[in-house]
Amino acid sequence: MNKSLALAARPAPIAELSMPVPAEIHPDSLLALPPGEAKQSLLTVHSILEARLPAGPLAIYEAGGGSTSYLPLGVLRRAHVTVVDIDADQIRNNDYAQEAILGDIQTYRFPPQRFDLIICYNVIEHIPDVQAVLSGFCEALKPNGLLLIGAPNPKSLSGIVTKYSPHWFHVWFYRHIRGEKKAGLPGEAPFPTHFHPLVTLDKLEAFVAGRGLQVIYRKKYESPRYPEMRRRKPLLAAAIDAAARLMNAILPGKIDVRHGDYHVILRKLG
Ligand SMILES: C[S@@+](CC[C@H](N)C(=O)[O-])C[C@H]1O[C@@H](n2cnc3c(N)ncnc32)[C@H](O)[C@@H]1O
Repeated sequence: MNKSLALAARPAPIAELSMPVPAEIHPDSLLALPPGEAKQSLLTVHSILEARLPAGPLAIYEAGGGSTSYLPLGVLRRAHVTVVDIDADQIRNNDYAQEAILGDIQTYRFPPQRFDLIICYNVIEHIPDVQAVLSGFCEALKPNGLLLIGAPNPKSLSGIVTKYSPHWFHVWFYRHIRGEKKAGLPGEAPFPTHFHPLVTLDKLEAFVAGRGLQVIYRKKYESPRYPEMRRRKPLLAAAIDAAARLMNAILPGKIDVRHGDYHVILRKLG
């Protein structure tokens, strides 16, 4: 299936941009993020991808790509993107991939060493067999190819609440706290979560290290839900911030329970 590349980004209010970068060069995913650690880390991810990917045409696989790309437009413009997603509505809504495949990333396989970059963003927490998914990625990457994973941190306040609460609560949160009126409808987030043990960053890194992937960037950061909540629901946000500060003070080690998400970029050794 051939689709045109959507390069025109929606302009964002100037106050939302945390860096002095022209809005038109960034995709919607970046513009939708409130200023804060998440946006900062995504900008760092973008600069690493721009610097480390080879010049010229790129073969990119977005696993569970849905309808939003997290790639910088400079990369997207020279890429042939293949999206695999299990949800027919997500595939229908995708307007940036040249090839969109309705399939299960646990079982769908490409020929070995096919891609310069594989991206799996906000997906592994939904997958029962993360081992199968990661093994497929390792095989499908070219030598020196990059794997970008964005996922929730199961060892954070939001990670624990998401992991141990029922799906109806996630839908309620999206509708009433985040203000997403269509949440839970077909093809709309939130999607049911599994939180396989390999979603934990240390375990994920150890698993892929055994398959020849090396970490080149890792960052746990404050979930964008915090700045979003501070703007939309200041009283609730103040209560959660106070609870988080208390937990940070009494828990052993230097952890921040607000670090609800992470980015990791891995390189396949040549
Ligand atoms: C939270 S959405 C993220 C979509 C997109 N990556 C983003 O960040 O906007 C999770 C996506 O994973 C897809 N997904 C869940 N399980 C899948 C599987 N086994 N195979 C392929 N896609 C899957 C869902 O259909 C959905 O599009």
